[in-house]
Amino acid sequence: MENSKPSPVFSFLSILALYFSFFTITPTSSASLQDQFISCLQRNTNVYFPLENTFFAPAKNVSMFSQVLESTAQNLRFLTKTMPKPGFIFKPIHESHVQASIICSKKLGIHFRIRSGGHDYEGLSYVSEMEKPFILMDLSKLRQININIKDNTAWVQAGATVGELYYRIAEKSKVHGFPAGLCSSLGIGGHITGGAYGSMMRKYGLGADNVLDAKIVDANGRLLDRAAMGEDTFWAIRGGGGGSFGVILAWKMKLVPVPRTVTVFTVTKTLEQDVGNKILSKWQVVADKLVEELFIRVIFNVAGINRNKTVTTSYNALFLGNKGTLMKVMKKSFPELGLTPKDCTEMSWLESIVYISGFPSRTPTSVLLQGKSPFPKNNFKAKSDFVKTPVPESGLKGMFKKLLKEDIPMMIWNPYGGMMAKIPESQIPFPHRKGVIFKIQYVTSWPDSDKRPSKHINWIRDLYNYMTPYVSTHPRQSYVNYRDLDLGKNKKNMKSSMKLKQAQVWGAKYFKDNFNRLVRIKSKVDPYNFFRHEQSIPTLPVRS
Ligand SMILES: Cc1cc2nc3c(=O)[nH]c(=O)nc-3n(C[C@H](O)[C@H](O)[C@H](O)COP(=O)(O)OP(=O)(O)OC[C@H]3O[C@@H](n4cnc5c(N)ncnc54)[C@H](O)[C@@H]3O)c2cc1C
Ligand SMILES: *[C@@H]1O[C@H](CO)[C@@H](O)[C@H](O)[C@H]1NC(C)=O
Ligand SMILES: *[C@@H]1O[C@H](CO)[C@@H](O)[C@H](O)[C@H]1NC(C)=O
Repeated sequence: MENSKPSPVFSFLSILALYFSFFTITPTSSASLQDQFISCLQRNTNVYFPLENTFFAPAKNVSMFSQVLESTAQNLRFLTKTMPKPGFIFKPIHESHVQASIICSKKLGIHFRIRSGGHDYEGLSYVSEMEKPFILMDLSKLRQININIKDNTAWVQAGATVGELYYRIAEKSKVHGFPAGLCSSLGIGGHITGGAYGSMMRKYGLGADNVLDAKIVDANGRLLDRAAMGEDTFWAIRGGGGGSFGVILAWKMKLVPVPRTVTVFTVTKTLEQDVGNKILSKWQVVADKLVEELFIRVIFNVAGINRNKTVTTSYNALFLGNKGTLMKVMKKSFPELGLTPKDCTEMSWLESIVYISGFPSRTPTSVLLQGKSPFPKNNFKAKSDFVKTPVPESGLKGMFKKLLKEDIPMMIWNPYGGMMAKIPESQIPFPHRKGVIFKIQYVTSWPDSDKRPSKHINWIRDLYNYMTPYVSTHPRQSYVNYRDLDLGKNKKNMKSSMKLKQAQVWGAKYFKDNFNRLVRIKSKVDPYNFFRHEQSIPTLPVRS
């Protein structure tokens, strides 16, 4: 079959779009840019690609383009009219298309963003506020999963979701699992690059701790596996953050054992039911010391209205074992919660994924194949912290006061310890290990109808300031998968030594001392900074 070039004829819709200035570049230039890109691709790959469902440009069909752009984008904040839009979207269907894309973007001087699952907190996988034009390479059509139970491994392509991975594992075996994220729609491509924690982290560590091999395309368009990329690059991609070292095509995972029966519970207390924060204070003391099979996180929400408004703390847990054993563990280590057998439900590991993900009970596990999140998308801003000594009662008091002031605040306290404390800080770039009791995630969200995003963003910054005395210092640590541009941005027109200095501030927060090694590796494998975004790993200044 012959590839036909897209027609440059403007549709009524695209003129309309232009009129309302939806797009930062005009349909004319995006169409010709796309044409040049396509003919370059055709010269650089001999694997056929249909133009119809692989290229999406506003000039061709603006509603289709928006639909594809919005499909997996999780944060509505980065889809508003004023946000820059990609000139076009390309969905490769073969590895060689990714290789050719890199060669062609370089040749044509086009900046591009890489998207696997679209969960980036700052929208960096589908919006560039630094450079225009930019294009979007969406890997959602590269989503093959090959499970090999015999040798406890799986090869997973970047565009697959973690939900699909879990489902495909369970299809083959009821006693195998993988310890990655809790939210089923996460893209395995971006997710693993930042660490990837989930409810089995205390037993098995992070997703990135359980990677055996990877396939990437580097800045020269070469396809490399672990042996070919070398141990430095293989180290950097497992936690050094997405979009800095190459395009991940696939990960090879080490599967872990799970019991046939696991137990879950969620016990919710209001402020009034936890007098003197007895339960929450005890949780802070035991959360990281409980048996490794037990993961209890605390989710904070506000409930009620007016004077009845209260903060609720939900103790949401997975236990790798049965109800009877769990009851014994809780009686011994955390009786203050008052857990009863009635609160607990036994189920398969796969069912526990659906449960912890937040789907209503009895949702069939096949929901994991639908790439859906249980919650409607909204606009949000999030930040993170790591806690090394329990937050005292006085600190909690002020924190609750602040939560009660916001419309839709949320916090998640996520326990560490267990395997997390046994893995050395420099094993992979993710450095938050021994000494961390728990991680805090702060989130505020608002619907599109709310026209005061800055009010909410200011609120979360204020809460973050308030928490300063109670969290890690020197550096104040943050989780790179909870990307936060408040911590600092790469600037374009700045001397490279200054750029590096600025980056060291957020770099230390995400990676501690590992940041320096990431910079050295980046300088070696991508010296011209082809893979870049607002918070990509910078290169060393070139000495003359
Ligand atoms: C609702 C929600 C729940 C979450 N739950 C968890 C959780 O339980 N545990 C956890 O650890 N994290 C969680 N996260 C954070 C999540 O791990 C990160 O947002 C992660 O980067 C998402 O990966 P993605 O592929 O879906 O995102 P994308 O937005 O596609 O990518 C994220 C970043 O990686 C880059 N990237 C994407 N694909 C590739 C690739 N193939 N090669 C190189 N770079 C790439 C992008 O350019 C971008 O910079 C959650 C996020 C959300 C929004
Ligand atoms: C544009 O895309 C939409 C789907 O979003 C489709 O229904 C419509 O037929 C397309 N229009 C044209 C002119 O191809
Ligand atoms: C608070 O709750 C009580 C009982 O639940 C109810 O009677 C009362 O009207 C509520 N007050 C407000 C201000 O919402």
